[in-house]
Amino acid sequence: MSSRADLSESAFLKAARGEPVPHTPVWYMRQAGRSLPEYLRVREGVGMLESCMDPELVVEITMQPVRRYGVDAAIFFSDIVLPLKAVGVDLDIKPGVGPVVAEPVRTLADVEAIPDLTPEHVPFITEAVRGLVGELGGTPLIGFAGAPFTVASYLVEGGPSKEHAKTKAMMFGAPDVWDALMRKIAGIAAAYLEVQVAAGASAVQLFDSWAGALTPADYRAQVMPHSAAVLERAGALGVPRIHFGVGTSNLLTLMGEAGADVVGVDWRMPLADAVPLVGDRGVQGNLDPTLVFAPTDVMTSRAAEVIEAGRAAKGHIFNLGHGVIPSTDPDQLKRLTEFVQGYSLEG
Ligand code: CP3
Repeated sequence: MSSRADLSESAFLKAARGEPVPHTPVWYMRQAGRSLPEYLRVREGVGMLESCMDPELVVEITMQPVRRYGVDAAIFFSDIVLPLKAVGVDLDIKPGVGPVVAEPVRTLADVEAIPDLTPEHVPFITEAVRGLVGELGGTPLIGFAGAPFTVASYLVEGGPSKEHAKTKAMMFGAPDVWDALMRKIAGIAAAYLEVQVAAGASAVQLFDSWAGALTPADYRAQVMPHSAAVLERAGALGVPRIHFGVGTSNLLTLMGEAGADVVGVDWRMPLADAVPLVGDRGVQGNLDPTLVFAPTDVMTSRAAEVIEAGRAAKGHIFNLGHGVIPSTDPDQLKRLTEFVQGYSLEG
């Protein structure tokens, strides 16, 4: 078994706790996979879910961006639907499409048929996290889970959706089913995070990617209590909690109040406008992911604006405003990483 490395000097963990940092820490959502040739090579002929359940492959894929970019944190290679698969939900991740669920959830009986998650469902997660902590040394590992609303969308729609119409129809029209489903997913998400932290993850991120589809009133009444339940259980583990969604400029205050130490911000809102909305918490973000396709000096001058805006926050973790776009040039992300880490915070 690997011993826990000394993470006391980690800029990422310091920023997440609102402590002074030597440089603005940086990592990228979806840094593992997609754009890296070494990722495509090891994934050849191996399905996405299959690779998530293979500890050796998970360690290798999680390490790839850490080696290549020297980012300040690793994100565990997995997927938000993996814990559902682990408890027995019939689903697959189709290349270029995303998660597809064979029998979408519509009734209370459907919800009750989904087992709760225990560590025995995910021994391969424990093994992969332990292996990673040994390899990562002083670089912290971020564990993650999908938030109840975003995971519910895949379960209820049966696949990716733009409007989340069936999901919201359940939320508006069948509150008892909705409540049961959200509690079920919240329990699974919290248990999944507990497994990752128990094995050595030193921060967690709750992805509520599709929460931006909700009004603040609906988010507050029907979604926030369930995300708060997950974040509360994660908080009891003593690790910093990041809470992220896309298109959530009208939800940032609530997403912080749900129990986050750091609120992730997408690129649509200037970071300077987001900082006062999250109050006494850190922010993460938020360079437009397409700026890595711009000339390097354009990319870095926009990155500098993001870093400057982040200085007003209790803590700032640099990231893109959403995941790395698959066609991104890894060399350009390397230049961005070096720029952020070399940017002077003095003066
Ligand atoms: O580098 C990392 O961020 C770690 C791994 C990671 C994956 N998915 C791997 C993955 C993480 C953190 C996720 C989270 C995830 N999965 C989210 C939340 C983050 C976000 O982007 O908003 C969501 C909504 C999903 C659901 C999902 N899984 C979608 C929409 C897709 C298909 C689109 C795509 O990106 O290709 C997936 C599949 C998926 N998850 C892949 C990877 C590497 C591609 C699968 C493949 O290689 O065939």
